[in-house]
Amino acid sequence: MRLLVLGGTHFLGRHVVTAALARGHDVATFTRGVSGDPPEGARALHGDRDDPSALPAALDGWAPDLVVDTSCQTRAAARNAAAALSGAGGSALKGYAFVSSLNAYRNWPPGPVGPEDAEPTWTTDDDEYGPIKADAERILGSALGDRFLTARAGLVLGPHDRVHRLGWWLERIAQGGRVVVPDALDQPIHAVDACDLAGWLVESAERGRSGAVTTTGPHAMTTFGGLLELCREVTGGDAEWVPVPEEDLLAAGVQEWVHLPLWLRREVARTAWDVDTSRARSLGLPSRPLRETVADTWAWMRSVEELPEPPPGRPRPGLPPDLEARLLAAH
Ligand SMILES: NC(=O)c1ccc[n+]([C@@H]2O[C@H](COP(=O)([O-])OP(=O)(O)OC[C@H]3O[C@@H](n4cnc5c(N)ncnc54)[C@H](OP(=O)(O)O)[C@@H]3O)[C@@H](O)[C@H]2O)c1
Repeated sequence: MRLLVLGGTHFLGRHVVTAALARGHDVATFTRGVSGDPPEGARALHGDRDDPSALPAALDGWAPDLVVDTSCQTRAAARNAAAALSGAGGSALKGYAFVSSLNAYRNWPPGPVGPEDAEPTWTTDDDEYGPIKADAERILGSALGDRFLTARAGLVLGPHDRVHRLGWWLERIAQGGRVVVPDALDQPIHAVDACDLAGWLVESAERGRSGAVTTTGPHAMTTFGGLLELCREVTGGDAEWVPVPEEDLLAAGVQEWVHLPLWLRREVARTAWDVDTSRARSLGLPSRPLRETVADTWAWMRSVEELPEPPPGRPRPGLPPDLEARLLAAH
């Protein structure tokens, strides 16, 4: 079938293209063309999805049967896709799988997140990530009806991740020596592998699945310490953990999630990782062993000459060296 990926040159979108090609689809990607090329085998269409005329012009009569939308970050992008793909020209469309976020839920963070139908999503018109994703879901959902599925993704990990959260830990742990870690190694954490999510999105579009699905790893699949241990195993380093109490981290100015990527304060972590993924499990969202995700990410990082830059406006995560030195000296 003809499968259109909105996005397709970076992280999750790249994996969607690869999965769709492997399943025998005729794949096109739609991006502005500033971030490079999609994987070989896909036709690269170009335009800005915030411009209402760009997608119809780029498609030029090539009507997709299926869409996987990884790149929606504005309400205009959702409106334009709905107009271009749900109407007369897009009437052949069988399934549209949209990548949303846990942030679409009004109460997350800190959560917890219960079953999809019982959890309210944002209804405000703020120009912020969560409210925009929630609005985009409504715009596309009302245009596409039961052909529309929204995947509310939690933490996505894997190769080609330019946000570089797991990547920072891998690099730091590979350097070895004394490594500052939060004194919260038993904190639960769950993630979805980008390849697992990508394949499932393609399959969901093929099957014309509909509704909202919270798409992250199974509850309590591992702990923060378990994840760091995998990083140590995979990189083969001799890193030694230096656990620092939360109070000391915060007093030193360490920002959760940013300076120590994937770490959340106790009070937030208590509920933020409490997410019901029963629907995803019942719809077959796979969850490969986390070791594979960590190993694949490390293999990718070592295979590229230069790691991609984080998205515009997002700093590269990680503990600044001067802050790390101060914490190590004190513990
Ligand atoms: N990473 C996580 O842990 C996480 C968690 C929850 C949800 N998510 C969601 O998962 C998705 C991640 O997808 P990804 O990794 O494929 O995305 P990504 O790394 O953000 O890449 C964005 C893609 O969209 C294209 N693009 C950006 N602006 C565009 C525009 N105005 N018009 C047309 N194309 C545009 C980019 O190409 P050009 O720059 O060339 O246009 C690129 O191909 C996002 O929707 C994110 O919100 C991620």
